[in-house]
Amino acid sequence: TATEKHGFRHFMLKEIYEQPGVVRTCLDHYLNLDWVTDRSTNPINLGLPVGLYTNLEQVQIIACGTSWHASLIGKYLIEQLAGIPAQVQYASEFRYAPPPLTPNTLTIGVTQSGETADTISALNMEKQRRADLDDRFQPRLLGITNRMQSTLARLVDYAIDMHAGIEIGVAATKSFTAQLMAFYGLALDLAYRRQTLSIDRLEQIILQLRQLPGQIEAILETQEKQIEELAHEFSETQDFIFIGRGINFPIALEGALKLKEISYIHAEGYPAGEMKHGPIALLDEKVPVVAIAMPGSVYEKVLSNAQEAKARDARLIGVTPVNDPHATEIFDDVLTVPDVEELLSPILAVVPLQLLSYHIAAHRGLDVDQPRNLAKSVTVE
Ligand code: G6P
Repeated sequence: TATEKHGFRHFMLKEIYEQPGVVRTCLDHYLNLDWVTDRSTNPINLGLPVGLYTNLEQVQIIACGTSWHASLIGKYLIEQLAGIPAQVQYASEFRYAPPPLTPNTLTIGVTQSGETADTISALNMEKQRRADLDDRFQPRLLGITNRMQSTLARLVDYAIDMHAGIEIGVAATKSFTAQLMAFYGLALDLAYRRQTLSIDRLEQIILQLRQLPGQIEAILETQEKQIEELAHEFSETQDFIFIGRGINFPIALEGALKLKEISYIHAEGYPAGEMKHGPIALLDEKVPVVAIAMPGSVYEKVLSNAQEAKARDARLIGVTPVNDPHATEIFDDVLTVPDVEELLSPILAVVPLQLLSYHIAAHRGLDVDQPRNLAKSVTVE
């Protein structure tokens, strides 16, 4: 059952290993099987009504913690695939400084537990402040949650079930992956209905989504041993910097958050291009830099930012595809992931970072599943 460790030392590790299965379950639920034989149907099936999307001008996403990181990737996908402007707000900030009301706006609450107090209050507020306005301003509330019986699920008009199964480790792993899957589904659903992508392009993306479970399995099978050994080298490390750009900037944030949460090592996630405006001053041989360098629009940029860190003697760890001689030359250590189109890369890039944090914390003998001061679900403000 979900509440047993099944031979894993911690729930977190078990949940990291459940990710290929979670992605498969999401694909089973979100992809429309009819599409395989009939290309005139919508390839995505989220059970959402057309009305939710009619005349859509703006998307605002509200979340906390890891769900907020998934939302940043969601924003990228919605903007780049469906061409709709999207904002991501911390629920705790939104509550006390709600942005001016915009018409025809879809508000998405993203919460694994469906119970996070700040997220629930922010959505409640949005619902109330729009209630008496004219049609164009009426609330359109969508939830992305792992708990279809939660407070969030009752509050919103529609919810996408994350299908991650019970997550026990306080540090979110498989629920993050599931949230990304929900956002791929949503962005493609929007893109299909707004006709912003050609059928060929949709097909290409969907084919690649289907490869993800096997690719995550490959990372788990081939990388864990090496990551565990690498983790042992950081028993005295006090600071870490994670850098990424574009769709993988949120992965840098998530990599840093995982490390902070369970190993209590200070870590910062930064957009690689911003390094020179501050964090580069921190770098020396004692501060390892993890660069997420996935081929695509910003690949060369990230590599050159990584080289700048290397010039300050930082130990450089790269998350990058197998067999890139150029990358292996730059990085001291390489955490390899299968080669994949940039758009799909976050879901692979996060896995070695989860394993790295896990093994650093486990090696330090810390309580990985129940880190100090943290709760799985924060139901107070
Ligand atoms: C807590 C958890 C985090 C989680 C955040 C948001 O801080 O420790 O892992 O990301 O809450 O939780 P939610 O259930 O709203 O996704």
